[in-house]
Amino acid sequence: MTTKPLKITETALRDAHQSLLATRMSTADMLPIAEKMDKVGYFSVEMWGGATFDSAMRFLNENPWERITALKERMPNTPFQMLFRGQNILGYRHYPDDIVEKVIVASIKRGIQVFRIFDALNDVRNMRWAMEVVKREGAHLQAAICYTISPVHTIDGFVELGKEFAAMGADSICIKDMAGLISPYDAYELVSKLKQAIDLPIQLHTHYTSGMGSTAIIKAAEAGVDVADTAISSVALATSQPATETIVAMLKGTPRDTGYDLGLLSEISGYFADIRRHYAAFESGFNGVDVRVLRYQIPGGMLSNLVSQLREQGAEDRYEEVLAEVPRVRAELGYPPLVTPSSQMVGTQATLNVLLGERYKMVPQEVKNYVKGMYGRPPAPIDPDIEKLILGDEEPIDCRPADLLEPGFEKAKEEIGDLAWNDEDVLSYALFPQVARAFFERRARGEVPPITEPRIFPVPKAPEPVATPAPAAPTAPRKVLPYSMWKLAGRVGNRR
Ligand code: CO
Repeated sequence: MTTKPLKITETALRDAHQSLLATRMSTADMLPIAEKMDKVGYFSVEMWGGATFDSAMRFLNENPWERITALKERMPNTPFQMLFRGQNILGYRHYPDDIVEKVIVASIKRGIQVFRIFDALNDVRNMRWAMEVVKREGAHLQAAICYTISPVHTIDGFVELGKEFAAMGADSICIKDMAGLISPYDAYELVSKLKQAIDLPIQLHTHYTSGMGSTAIIKAAEAGVDVADTAISSVALATSQPATETIVAMLKGTPRDTGYDLGLLSEISGYFADIRRHYAAFESGFNGVDVRVLRYQIPGGMLSNLVSQLREQGAEDRYEEVLAEVPRVRAELGYPPLVTPSSQMVGTQATLNVLLGERYKMVPQEVKNYVKGMYGRPPAPIDPDIEKLILGDEEPIDCRPADLLEPGFEKAKEEIGDLAWNDEDVLSYALFPQVARAFFERRARGEVPPITEPRIFPVPKAPEPVATPAPAAPTAPRKVLPYSMWKLAGRVGNRR
């Protein structure tokens, strides 16, 4: 067994609150604890990317770029890490290469040092350009394998992908288990085989949803994993990461002892326990282990999505049918890993198939685009009958989707005009046009307070007393509004 200390990436400032608190943690609530966090000696702190960018402008009335600087001033010694969705950058569609490049360069300028790059379909064509730019700019390039379970995903297949990333110049490899599906023994095997095949640091990212997360990290540590992602305990567990202190304590006195100071960690945890109360309105109420993740291998966020879609259609009694339809649709669509945006597509299509009483009678535009290849190459071929049904005589594309896109920066700059004060603003606009414009308009009216000031959140209402529902009368399948369902899926989607 390796005797190097296990290193930790702390996720409290990104994935933890994205998973538990709808990505609402404000910069003002991060700053007072930053200096203490800087003393721990983390491998890195993940504090940007994923849904934080959109959320900062949309919900917090913050300029997302300013968060990096504000934190960096107080944490000069800790590498800052960003989650980067390959050609999707921080959004849910593909962006042109010039936008990808400029976002990376601007992020580095602000203080991002580690880029974790992934593609929802593990299609390396959607990652290559971002990887090249990170490499060229001299930042740490971490390429991520989206871990999932399906008949076409194997440990050896993931190892092959890891080798490909190494050949593309990655500085480290991340196993990104976004749904918390990896078992301790699979983690052990995958890490061991990656270590044998590649001479690069390996990092494990998992979620606690299934209850296996802490043990998966310990088995991965036994197999020699170099870094693990954890969240400080007061924002850990449930759909977030395993708790930092648990891992630190479990490894104390072993060859993988992290050497981190549990006293310091508990001060940090106390701080986050206090500020978590600001976000009570955004708590999901789910605090335990989600056994459905283990039964259906469907991420927790996607399940709550399905429930709200069905509730909106008054069809909660069809839940089991929809759950059974999800694996069928996923198989027909070539077994995409269930992560944004494929989780929303598969979930919405399965719901439509059940509620309309005829499979693929209605197909959302996003699913059409997916089948057309506009999101990249699925892990397995799409069922030819389904492809024909959805595309008719249209041919799917076989190039990299972004090859079809015109450069976007100059066009965005022209469109947003004087509302943008600098190139960062133009990038914000290119990524999220409506959200950024609304933010810039508020800013122009003087309605954006400094980033160091607290944001005000709604006080949570006391829960309504719940009456026992009467048994549902059998009804004919309802006419559904697929468009509104799609929007709903996008709004409450599982975005980690
Ligand atoms: Co995650």
